[in-house]
Amino acid sequence: MFGKIVLMQIQVERTQLEHVQADALVLPVFEGRKEERFGAATLTDAGEVTGKFGEFTLVHHPAGAAAARVLLAGAGKVEKFDADGARKLAGMAARHLKSKAIKKVAFAFDPAFVGAALEGAVLGNFEPDRYRTGNDKKSIETIVVVDTGKTAGLEETVERARVVAEAQNFTRELVNEPANRLAPMQMAEAARRMAAAQGLECQVLERAEMEKLGMGALLGVAQGSAEPPALIVIRYRPAGKEAKAHLGLVGKGVTFDTGGISIKPADGMEKMKYDMAGGAAMIGAMQAIAQLKPAIPVTAFVPCVENMPGGRAQRPGDIVTAMSGKTVEVLNTDAEGRLILADAITYARRQGCTHLVDAATLTGAIVVALGHIHVGLFTNDDGMRDRVLAAARAGGERTWAMPLDEDYREYLKSAFADIANIGGRWGGAVTAAMFLKEFAEDTPWVHLDIAGTAWLDDEKPHLAKGPTGVPLRTMVNLAMEWK
Ligand code: BES
Ligand code: ZN
Ligand code: ZN
Repeated sequence: MFGKIVLMQIQVERTQLEHVQADALVLPVFEGRKEERFGAATLTDAGEVTGKFGEFTLVHHPAGAAAARVLLAGAGKVEKFDADGARKLAGMAARHLKSKAIKKVAFAFDPAFVGAALEGAVLGNFEPDRYRTGNDKKSIETIVVVDTGKTAGLEETVERARVVAEAQNFTRELVNEPANRLAPMQMAEAARRMAAAQGLECQVLERAEMEKLGMGALLGVAQGSAEPPALIVIRYRPAGKEAKAHLGLVGKGVTFDTGGISIKPADGMEKMKYDMAGGAAMIGAMQAIAQLKPAIPVTAFVPCVENMPGGRAQRPGDIVTAMSGKTVEVLNTDAEGRLILADAITYARRQGCTHLVDAATLTGAIVVALGHIHVGLFTNDDGMRDRVLAAARAGGERTWAMPLDEDYREYLKSAFADIANIGGRWGGAVTAAMFLKEFAEDTPWVHLDIAGTAWLDDEKPHLAKGPTGVPLRTMVNLAMEWK
């Protein structure tokens, strides 16, 4: 399986911009604010540098600078510039410069945006090139965060940003792994290795234990594959603190979703290796949580299966008994995510979690509803909704609350069991969430449908094609800001 991720060097330098030693110094320039340093005045006068967001001008041998180049990075209107803008701009700059084989880059952002900018640079530097042979791999090796003042707490800001962005890149590596290299057991192995490196407790439940626990919904999905299932449990406990709340993070870990007997069309099926993106985000979040040490205990639960149409596969019409005791009529074997999550949610509740968040590439319907812009949020608890929305906003992971009234429950009626695993034609993302709610019962719970946001179909100026790592930043913020 995949080897060590090569990390960038990140250093803080307290100095004047002129003295910064680097291959390139990234300097944000704002619309309507004339930048005159490093010979920029003539470029501004000539109308070549306007400060429009995303306009890049690379100046070689900049006047008065120790750096070999200055990248004048158009940042838009100063009053509109925020953390999201900084994250994006730094990501764009990183990708722009690394494509020119530039190795050491200094960033001169306002201290208020240093954290977001650093995240953007580390995320922008990521490339899904693990399986490309040859030596054409270009990557920034060193980032210098320039502080021209004596900003208090800057080291902590830089450290948190580094930890979060590196965890996010780890998640993206996991998601990019093809299904022939990352089946449930390999995913469990990756989680074990991460946990061992971070000093977290990791336990992997295998088929026999799941049978004992009565996880019939999860096992029903797994039975069509030659790859055995795994339920990954990773525990973080704050030192010496007694907390009332215990946060559970549940992530869908379908290492490949063929649809099973209700098989998917061939066109685009290769993308279904990302059906474990929710689980990978929770594993990555635990890596960051281990280093940032929030005050609340956090446990991740990642049910991993491969959904295959094998000779032992479950059939439409099969009735399984979930761990909670409820019976489920499996009308469509492609609605497998909710089945494995149902048992993982029940298990998380029995493990003592008082609050739950799950993340899952659960439905095509959420992509119809929200496109590739917003994560869909569903909940049984307004307090949890507010906490998660605040955490998402702080992390720049756009998230939108969707309805989940009891009235939707009738869509899931089954003639032969307690509940069916699909509703009708309408409101597919809501009925999927409604199914999960049945298993969350009275535990405050949020479900995040990330089917539209966990994967970028095309490269962006600030991010590579493929996995985004969403909603890792939301999860880390949620744990860190828990009160
Ligand atoms: N993994 C898919 C959801 C999905 C679809 C993720 C497209 C990303 C892009 C999920 O297991 C699934 O197949 N859901 C079905 C549910 C349906 C059978 C009720 C869907 O959305 O079509
Ligand atoms: Zn499916
Ligand atoms: Zn799926």
